[in-house]
Amino acid sequence: MFSLHVYQQRRDHLKALMPDKSLAIVSAAHEIIRNRDAEYPFRQSSDFWYLTGFTEPDAVLVIGPNQPDRLFVRPKNPDQEVWTGRRLGPENVQTQLGIDEGFPIDALDTELGRLLRDVVWLEYPFQCMQSSAIVDQAIKSKSIKSRRQDLLSHCADLSRHLHRARLIKSDEEITAMREAGRISALGHVAAMQACEPGMTEDQLASIVEHCFRMEGSPAVAYQTIVGGGDNACILHYIDRADRLQDGDLVLIDAGCEVQGYAGDITRTFPINGSFSSAQADLYDVVLSAQAEAIQAMVVGNSIKQFHEAALRRLTEGLIDLNIIEGSIESALEEKRYLPYYMHGTGHFLGLDVHDVGAYEDDGRPVELSEGMVITCEPGLYIDQRSDAPERYRGIGIRIEDDVLITNQDPDILTSKVPKERFDIETLMRG
Ligand code: GLY
Ligand code: MN
Ligand code: MN
Repeated sequence: MFSLHVYQQRRDHLKALMPDKSLAIVSAAHEIIRNRDAEYPFRQSSDFWYLTGFTEPDAVLVIGPNQPDRLFVRPKNPDQEVWTGRRLGPENVQTQLGIDEGFPIDALDTELGRLLRDVVWLEYPFQCMQSSAIVDQAIKSKSIKSRRQDLLSHCADLSRHLHRARLIKSDEEITAMREAGRISALGHVAAMQACEPGMTEDQLASIVEHCFRMEGSPAVAYQTIVGGGDNACILHYIDRADRLQDGDLVLIDAGCEVQGYAGDITRTFPINGSFSSAQADLYDVVLSAQAEAIQAMVVGNSIKQFHEAALRRLTEGLIDLNIIEGSIESALEEKRYLPYYMHGTGHFLGLDVHDVGAYEDDGRPVELSEGMVITCEPGLYIDQRSDAPERYRGIGIRIEDDVLITNQDPDILTSKVPKERFDIETLMRG
């Protein structure tokens, strides 16, 4: 958790943007059943975490201008706590979280009914189902019966302020993301060192994740992708059921979380430690596309611009290797690269791996600004069934790093894992 004043500043920032007589409601996540009475590992809702630093389920934050911040939490319950762990309890909200007033979650309906009497605007993150359900329920309160329609037509999406704030990372957030990048990189290095033909994809994933945990990260930021050979052409391949074959490449897309902030790295390397010449041809195209894209990740450019830089280099490479035909301009115009490169080159990164924040403003691409963290992840995917020359089939390559936009050069948070072919082969030789 960051210092309490960080969360206070975030709440104060939002309240300063809210109109008079408005109230914002942001819910924590619930626990989700996996099977019968076993739960999935709990992960706090990112918006709620951002505003409170509180990681228990079933809590609700209520804030508004010119009034105390309120947090509704599960009450302490010694019998339950023996089974499911300690609870903060409303009596400790003020001292432990720096939030003005703590209430038991059971008091939410009554308190909201009372607070809504004086409220004209209601704000909540529209995409959050729990927050929406709380607002639906609150608006049914008897105490505001005569103003129900009025309030319904005065609901605003808190995300417009909240997600704009989350897009630009503060110093504390950058420190956490640097650590997520460092640990994520170590996981990839461990995998390169341990990889051998005959291992399963899942065993290689376990080496990456073991390293994350040993370095102090409690969770992966998303399900680890490990795809050998043709499986690398499935973008979000999470089955990890196959054995790694001598002579194939393996693609690993894995990142850990630090204080909720994600790392997101992809590396592709030869299972036996040496690139074949066909693999090397394609690899060098992707690597140079990434280098050109990263150069374009500067203040004032847009995600579209660095995507286009990558696309141009990938398309040139596909033409040089006789995978597609024609001039570079016609191939780009007709999108002839599309069977081999079908995704964007970057996304915002933060508390969510595909982080919040608008990519367009009034129909125009958003300009990159200092403090944004964005991935750069070009790839080429030549699957077994493609029309490409046979020597390239069954090869999928992606190279992904996390880049902090600064007023100077792009700052790569994930640089501690090699990506030059020579460096990978040297590391794998031991
Ligand atoms: N790991 C998901 C992505 O790279 O977008
Ligand atoms: Mn990514
Ligand atoms: Mn990724």
